[in-house]
Amino acid sequence: MNILIIYGTTEGQSRKVAEFLQKEFESLHHKVTLSDANGTPPSPSGYDAVIIGASMHMERYQEPVLYYVREHHAALNKTTSAFYSVSLTAASDDETSWQELRHITEHFLTAGHWHPAVVEYVAGALRFTKYDFFKKFILRQIARRADPHSVSGEDKEYTNWDTLKLFVTKVVQRAAAAPVTVRPEESDFEAVC
Ligand SMILES: Cc1cc2nc3c(=O)[nH]c(=O)nc-3n(C[C@H](O)[C@H](O)[C@H](O)COP(=O)(O)O)c2cc1C
Repeated sequence: MNILIIYGTTEGQSRKVAEFLQKEFESLHHKVTLSDANGTPPSPSGYDAVIIGASMHMERYQEPVLYYVREHHAALNKTTSAFYSVSLTAASDDETSWQELRHITEHFLTAGHWHPAVVEYVAGALRFTKYDFFKKFILRQIARRADPHSVSGEDKEYTNWDTLKLFVTKVVQRAAAAPVTVRPEESDFEAVC
């Protein structure tokens, strides 16, 4: 299969996830194109599955990801597509925080007119050593809620790589069960709302 992975990232964790997914798909002999949403990501045309990832910052996903989804939603909805969301909330056990995360994600998908076949919530990372004063202040509040055992000022990665292997299996199964490769003429002239 020919697979496209597009990611939005601010501190690099969503890129790390995208690179892990790329290796996993390649180990299953699929061809992968990896692209940063901040650059010039290719359209979904010619791909058998499209995976899009973004991370949560101040309860929002990266805007270039939303622009991409809006522009290409018709093609994304025709082929097998999946969304992975990276956040600290996904590392927490707090039901109220999870409800907020699901609500923000539903809002994002609705705004993009996108109906991915698979949505995966991925626990992100704390990178205190990379944050400026402002980010450190915000992250202390978020970390307290997401992981009461986190040590303020220490970096910590919560991403569960085994769960991501299952995500890869799910995407491959969905794409194999309903194979649709969007052709260029089908993805042109999509409405941008
Ligand atoms: C300034 C800032 C704001 C954040 N806001 C949220 C948030 O609202 N909800 C949440 O669950 N995680 C939040 N996080 C945690 C990030 O989602 C997490 O660190 C993730 O791994 C970042 O992914 P990235 O490196 O791909 O940008 C925030 C992180 C930073 C630095």
